[in-house]
Amino acid sequence: MKPELESLPLAEVERLAERVADPAAWNYLVSGAGTEDALRENLAAFRRIRFAPRVCTDVSEVDTELRLLGLDLPHPVLIGPTACHRMFHPDGEEATARGAGEAGAVFCLSGYSTTGMAAVQRAASGPWWLQYNAAPDDGFTRELIAEATERGAAGIVLTVDTPVAGARERQGWDGVSLPDGLSFALTESAPYPVRPPSSPYEIHRPALDASFTWERLAGLRSSTRIPLLVKGILRADDALRCLDAGADGIIVSNHGARNLDSVLSTAEALPRVAEAVRGRAAVLVDGGLRRGADIAKALALGADAVLLGRPALHGLVLAGAQGVGHVVRRLRYELAMTMALCGAPNLAALDADLLV
Ligand SMILES: Cc1cc2nc3c(=O)[nH]c(=O)nc-3n(C[C@H](O)[C@H](O)[C@H](O)COP(=O)(O)O)c2cc1C
Repeated sequence: MKPELESLPLAEVERLAERVADPAAWNYLVSGAGTEDALRENLAAFRRIRFAPRVCTDVSEVDTELRLLGLDLPHPVLIGPTACHRMFHPDGEEATARGAGEAGAVFCLSGYSTTGMAAVQRAASGPWWLQYNAAPDDGFTRELIAEATERGAAGIVLTVDTPVAGARERQGWDGVSLPDGLSFALTESAPYPVRPPSSPYEIHRPALDASFTWERLAGLRSSTRIPLLVKGILRADDALRCLDAGADGIIVSNHGARNLDSVLSTAEALPRVAEAVRGRAAVLVDGGLRRGADIAKALALGADAVLLGRPALHGLVLAGAQGVGHVVRRLRYELAMTMALCGAPNLAALDADLLV
C-alpha cells in the first residue's frame, strides 16, 4: 500500500477521489434526490448526537468482533451495494470484493454490477452477499438468488425502497448511461430491459417493479436457505412486516437519500426500527456514516452493523482494492478509538445510555 494512503482521513480520500474521477461518474456517485436536503441531513443527524463517555472502565482491550447472520466478523463495517463499479475504477467490483475481504468487510454485490458473479466469486477474499431490487419477474430474481447461493454467497439483500427511481438533478433525469464496453453483467438475460425511462415525465422503469408487495417478499424468502435481508426500511411497522415475511435482517436505509426528497434520516429511523425488532432479526443501517464516531452512534442506537455506500466508492476511485481496504481499516480504527474513549470495551457496551 502507498504509505500516504494509510494515513489519509476519509474526507481527504473523498477530496482526492473527486480530482481523479470521471466527472459524469462522480455526479452519479454524489447525487441525492431533489433538494439534497435529506442527503445533507443523513450526515448531520449522526453528527448532532453527542457522547456522554464512561471513564475508569478497562479499555486496555477493545473488541470490535461480532457474529452476524452466521458469520464471525472482525468488525461491524460492511460494504453496501452500489452499482456500476467499472465506471469508478477499471478493476470494478473485483477490486471492491478484494479490498473488502482483505479488510474483513462483507462485500454486498449490487444487482447492477458491471462484473459477472463468477468473477466476483473468484476475486472475493471474504464473505459476500448479493443484492437485487424488487423487480418485475420473480422467476428471474429466483434464478439470480439460486446462482448466488450456489456460488457461496452468505446472504441475499432485497432492496424494496425503489418502486421508481428518484429525481437526481445533478445526474440528469435519464440516470446514468454506461460508457461503451461496460454492461450490466447480472441482468443480461433478464426478461426486461435495464434502461432509463424513455421520457423526463415517465416515472416508472422497466426493471423496477412498482407493484411489488409483502406477499411476494415472503415468496422470494422461501426460495433460498441463506439469510435474506430487506433493504430500505424506515418504519417500525414495515420492519414488523419484514419479520412476518421471514426476513433474517433489516437494513435501515433511505438509499443514500437518492430516491425520496425530504425523507427522514436513517439516524432518526434506526431507534424505532431497532426497538420494534427487539433482536428477532439483525438490524443494519446505512446513510451518512463517514467517521468511526458515526458508526459507534449507529451501534448505540440499536444497529448490529453498518454498511458504507459512497465512502467505499471514494476509496475505489482513488486506489482500487487498496482504497476500499483503506476506507474500511480507517473506519475500524476510528471506531475502536471512539469505543475506548467512551469506556466501551466491546460492541455490547455501546448502548443508548452513552448518547445524549
Ligand atoms: C453510486 C451509488 C449506487 C447505488 N446503487 C445501489 C444499488 O444498486 N442497490 C441498492 O440497493 N442501493 C444502491 N445504492 C444505495 C447504497 O446501497 C446505500 O444505501 C447508500 O449509498 C448509503 O448511503 P451513503 O452513500 O451515505 O453511505 C447506491 C448508492 C450510490 C451512491
